[in-house]
Amino acid sequence: MNPDFMRYFYTLLAFALILASIGCNQAIENSRKSQAILEMKRATDFHSYSQPEEAVVTHLNWNASVNFEDRIIRATATYDIDVSATAERILLDCVDLTIEAVTVDGESVDWSLGPEQPFIGQPLSVPVNGASKRISIQYASSPSAGALLWVEGAQPFLFTQSQAILARTWIPCQDSPGIRFTYEAHVDVPVGTMALMSATNPTVQSADGHYDFRMDQPIPSYLLALAVGNVEFRSVGPHTGVYAVPELIDAAEYEFGEMEALLVAAENLYGKYAWERYDLLVLPAAFPFGGMENPRLTFATPTIIAGDRSLVSLVAHELAHSWSGNLVTNSTWDDFWLNEGFTVYFEQRIMEAVFGREISEMLATLSYQGLVDEVDEIMDTNPDDTHLKLHLQNRNPDDGMTAIAYDKGYFFIRLIEETVGREGFDAFLKAYFTEHAFTVMDTDRFITYLKENLLNTEDRLMAVNLDAWIFGAGLPENCPEVRSERIEQVDANLTAWEANQIGTEELPWADWVYQERYRFLSNLDDSTSAVRMKELDLAWSISSTGNNEVLFAWLEQSIRSTYSPSYDRLENFLINVGRRKFLTPLYRAMIETDQKEMALAIYKQARPNYHSVATGTMDELLEIE
Ligand code: BES
Ligand code: ZN
Repeated sequence: MNPDFMRYFYTLLAFALILASIGCNQAIENSRKSQAILEMKRATDFHSYSQPEEAVVTHLNWNASVNFEDRIIRATATYDIDVSATAERILLDCVDLTIEAVTVDGESVDWSLGPEQPFIGQPLSVPVNGASKRISIQYASSPSAGALLWVEGAQPFLFTQSQAILARTWIPCQDSPGIRFTYEAHVDVPVGTMALMSATNPTVQSADGHYDFRMDQPIPSYLLALAVGNVEFRSVGPHTGVYAVPELIDAAEYEFGEMEALLVAAENLYGKYAWERYDLLVLPAAFPFGGMENPRLTFATPTIIAGDRSLVSLVAHELAHSWSGNLVTNSTWDDFWLNEGFTVYFEQRIMEAVFGREISEMLATLSYQGLVDEVDEIMDTNPDDTHLKLHLQNRNPDDGMTAIAYDKGYFFIRLIEETVGREGFDAFLKAYFTEHAFTVMDTDRFITYLKENLLNTEDRLMAVNLDAWIFGAGLPENCPEVRSERIEQVDANLTAWEANQIGTEELPWADWVYQERYRFLSNLDDSTSAVRMKELDLAWSISSTGNNEVLFAWLEQSIRSTYSPSYDRLENFLINVGRRKFLTPLYRAMIETDQKEMALAIYKQARPNYHSVATGTMDELLEIE
């Protein structure tokens, strides 16, 4: 063959090969790029305007004064920022804030507020460049700021509730759980009140109403918290203590006397507590939640003060968030189950360690019943909301606060534990918290981590069925079974009592702990007559119980039985207590039993006492504009 031709042929061949390999590399590179874009897309938080790849805040210095007369916080928020070389602005979230002045590195700048969207609010755009170091925003909050509840009267009190996206109603911030920053604050409050934050806290009131705070560990904005009121502090252990108003401080000191033991149990399970101190603040009864895991200082409803320490599992829950949530944080509100499901699991483990498996299994049995009921309910209206991984774009992230994230999440994690065995699971979870401390986690990354580190055999993967749990509707068939003999006994007693086989006095009510009493009352037949309700109350004085869970179950059944002797107690309860978990079922029971007039009359009186989180839900339920 012609050598020239051969040379030509080989050159061509080599060239083709090079081209092919370039093409191939290009394809790999493209796919890698699109993978990276996908990752970025996945991490997008639809509930925040911030663009962290352009610019992020790293530290907040908050200088504020709290004015009870006009219900306004006036403040300057100064942020250290980290700006990419090409960025021209930093975006922050705001709702109803009056922005007065903005500076960048000391110079006034031309800031702007963008158009408003429901729930999300407005973007505050501040011009910066790659060399900018610090922005400062002087502003005032609105008297109707969604996070804030101002309690009037002889004992004025203010508290915030920032989760999920209400921090932006009292501080302009990058209000996305994926962005963390440290903070310090100086707050001026009326003399005679103490200010407390999710930070280092005072234990005595200052003479001049000035307070200073530091939070040296980076936290997401939803954990920013402030409370102001005439509270006192009592230590209950070397790292633990309680704050409450003078009338409740003795009761609180007793009720939460086990906090240090809970903390020690938690550390023994999943590693060192990262926040130095763990204190608890008892809030006014208007607090819309049971508890809120503000770092270093859990905010709690006074309705868990039962006099007998019986409702302390709520403290175990908020404490557990010091790992699941506060240390390893859900990347967006679509991944909320990573915060709450793990926390319910951890809560259960703390309860088991401190109080024994019989108690923790009773709690799990009650959760299971609540979960099955709620899954049924959600399946009827919006089956996608029963997936662990949620889709909350264009919706209020509050919609994700259902038993799915909490209890479907819990049973999923329990299933993994039961599949691999406790020893292996505990080692995995401890490593998970340690390796991801002070970072975010999203559902897909968690799945990858889980497959690499725990569900690393075909058998294990098959046994769990990740897809069905995380991306599927309802409760999968392999849901772990919980059994509690004591709860089964309660059910047997209930059946016998309803069939008139045993009398009211023969019920072992006096021997029952609150979980058993709650089970009995919440499973009474809707058609239980007023006569029988009276019998129960006469025998066991249920209406004067100090346990608000039991009282709540009693009141709900009273509504369903139209047992009117309970109605004064009901009205009084609804006017004083703003905890949404109690309000929703009680108002709903009135609606469902043709007593909406009564519901509206009570709500009219009660509404001014409630927090925006509660009025939001109740207005919708009662169809109020
Ligand atoms: N972090 C939640 C409260 C929350 C969730 C507030 C989502 C706003 C948006 C807190 O840890 C919690 O779960 N509280 C529960 C108590 C718990 C024992 C289940 C509550 O308040 O009912
Ligand atoms: Zn929680």
